[in-house]
Amino acid sequence: MTMETVYRRATRTDASDLHDIRRRSILELAPPTMPVAEAQAWAVQLTRAGMEQKLRELEVWVAELDGIVAGWGAIRGDWLEGLYADPEFAGRGVGAGLLEMFERLMCERGIRAVRAEASSNAMAFYLRRGYRANGPQSPNGAWPIAKQLL
Ligand SMILES: CC(C)(COP(=O)(O)OP(=O)(O)OC[C@H]1O[C@@H](n2cnc3c(N)ncnc32)[C@H](O)[C@@H]1OP(=O)(O)O)[C@@H](O)C(=O)NCCC(=O)NCCS
Repeated sequence: MTMETVYRRATRTDASDLHDIRRRSILELAPPTMPVAEAQAWAVQLTRAGMEQKLRELEVWVAELDGIVAGWGAIRGDWLEGLYADPEFAGRGVGAGLLEMFERLMCERGIRAVRAEASSNAMAFYLRRGYRANGPQSPNGAWPIAKQLL
């Protein structure tokens, strides 16, 4: 049975859930494509206070499967600032669904291209969805990427 996905804006009360999903998604889904030590360093970069700041400063959206938060992403203007799937729901289209929703939102807002920095582990995921490298790999290993919107 397919579960219904609902997208909604995150609120301040989501902070600890979203912080936890981010940490677990990086630790469990980025390796082995990304070395474990690199994933650990990335996972601890965002504090709980940093998550609260993101909720204030970015447009954060949550994907809920049957009422359970299964992933989240954040945008600012034409920038995709983050995309995370709860590892318990990995491979079920949560990440792809959020990405499509953001592209649709941006399109409706007249934005012609979406830009992001793909972590090395997620690069293939974005390339399969029409993104292209948009500059050299940065010193932290991330790739600037972009996709034209119709
Ligand atoms: C990148 C990420 C958001 C994708 O989320 P997701 O909900 O698992 O993605 P989807 O289910 O939409 O698609 C995942 C792909 O992996 C495949 N897959 C199948 N089973 C899977 C499994 N058990 N686990 C992971 N991926 C699986 C899917 O078929 C799909 O393949 P495709 O790209 O050929 O279509 C998620 O892996 C993640 O949170 N990673 C850690 C954080 C991260 O790297 N974020 C991006 C920062 S730029």
